[in-house]
Amino acid sequence: MVGKATLYILFAIVTGIKSVSRKFPSDFKFGVGSSSYQIEGAWNEDGKSESIWDQYIHNNPKMINDEENADIACDSYHKYEEDVEMLKNLGVDYYRFSIAWTRILPNGTPDYVNQKGVQYYSNLVKLLKKNNIEPMVTLFHWDLPQVLQEQGGFATEKIVKWFTDYARLCFELFGDDVKTWITFNEPKQFCYLGYGMDYFPPAMNKSGELDYLCAYYLLKAHAEAWHVYNNEFRAHQKGRIAIVISYKWYEPLLPNVPAFEEAANTNMEFESGMYGHPLYKGDWPEIVKAKVSYNSKKEGRQQSRLPELSPEEIERIKGTNDFLGLNYYVSALVYPAATPQPAGFMRDLGVDTYQPWYWEQGKTSFIKVTPWGFKKLLKYLKDAYDNPEIIIIENGFNDDGQLDDVKRISYIERHLSAILEAREDFGVNVSGYSVWSFMDVFEWNFGYGNRFGLYHVDFADPKRPRTMKKSARYYRDVIKTRSLDKTSDYPTCFLE
Ligand SMILES: *[C@@H]1O[C@H](CO)[C@@H](O)[C@H](O)[C@H]1NC(C)=O
Ligand SMILES: *[C@@H]1O[C@H](CO)[C@@H](O)[C@H](O)[C@H]1NC(C)=O
Repeated sequence: MVGKATLYILFAIVTGIKSVSRKFPSDFKFGVGSSSYQIEGAWNEDGKSESIWDQYIHNNPKMINDEENADIACDSYHKYEEDVEMLKNLGVDYYRFSIAWTRILPNGTPDYVNQKGVQYYSNLVKLLKKNNIEPMVTLFHWDLPQVLQEQGGFATEKIVKWFTDYARLCFELFGDDVKTWITFNEPKQFCYLGYGMDYFPPAMNKSGELDYLCAYYLLKAHAEAWHVYNNEFRAHQKGRIAIVISYKWYEPLLPNVPAFEEAANTNMEFESGMYGHPLYKGDWPEIVKAKVSYNSKKEGRQQSRLPELSPEEIERIKGTNDFLGLNYYVSALVYPAATPQPAGFMRDLGVDTYQPWYWEQGKTSFIKVTPWGFKKLLKYLKDAYDNPEIIIIENGFNDDGQLDDVKRISYIERHLSAILEAREDFGVNVSGYSVWSFMDVFEWNFGYGNRFGLYHVDFADPKRPRTMKKSARYYRDVIKTRSLDKTSDYPTCFLE
């Protein structure tokens, strides 16, 4: 009789798989993620005010696939105890979720604190702690109070004080238990899609102007919140605070051709460098400053559409990131834009992207399976920013929601593998990894048809029952063994 282990070894020899033990260090942390608007529901309960997403979806139902909305979502506002049970079952070290600003401060400002909203997060945090799960809390995951939007939102300097006041209150309320804070989730996506385009609220649709203005005020708001934490809370709360940036890896379509190499570099700088550079090096990336300034002049403007950072601002923003929070889903090949781009961000960028049809993909082309790009990205960030501590805050795979989700297992496995390789081959300091998403959630404009969850949620059932997918069992085993060494339970993930 030939055992499964023997078969695996034969398989490994034949296919050349390295049979090294693929263990994570004992202090490596595993988690899962969610965000308030995408799971809580209870959009108008217990004193919560309207967020820009509530407003946008109720007024523009056609912007969302199948005209779905998040009024109930996973109903986590009522089911958080069950959520914690599920987290316990997974064995995660931390749970990354976000606070809805509208629940705590319905007016957007601290003149009135809604105790019922505070109670909800306080209950959740306490229950997590009781179960030895560390809360990792995002202060802003896109659901700005509508009242603040009506006063200008992120297109006004006022957001800096609004956000710092809100952040300070959260540190006061929850900082004894919460030791890892995230200021903003994915600023590029928020600013570009909401201020540069009409795809996200507030749909300001002024690319190359309002998206840059949003980036400018958002970075200032982040830095001020960091200073508040640093000056008023760090000494006794002893936590850390950072921003989360979504990265793609941009690979030149033609390697070693200077124009293509430059296109790849330009795309890195315009997309994620816009946020990473000011935090780690001070100021916007040179290429971004130069290109926006050049185009602005051609348009007959007196000054660049990209707000200039003063020496004081550069000083104030630089160094305000306790770790690099990184979301990664996909890579792309890039080349210099072949056709004229519409005015705005795309013209300033001047680069086009391409993803070959044969790259394995998820339910939509948003997800292509490119772990090789992840490994390159990690090395790039280590070199670019002087070896920061990196925590992977989001990484995940979309499908139709089937329970037998072997492609998700394969995706997670290959990206975890890329982390181990980046640590081993390049010494990249990745200290944690979190799957997006904990369960199926409301995926913004995709609605509920596009699922990332480890747990399945039945959105047709008013009780919103959750069911473990195969990927949840896989991830539970990875966490338990803290290793990627194959078990015979999941043959499909390496045999496909
Ligand atoms: C956004 O701008 C584009 C291009 O200028 C335009 O086609 C589109 O209709 C605008 N959307 C809205 C909601 O105004
Ligand atoms: C990774 O970063 C953390 C936090 O700065 C530090 O304590 C740790 O020593 C670093 N590890 C390595 C291998 O550089």
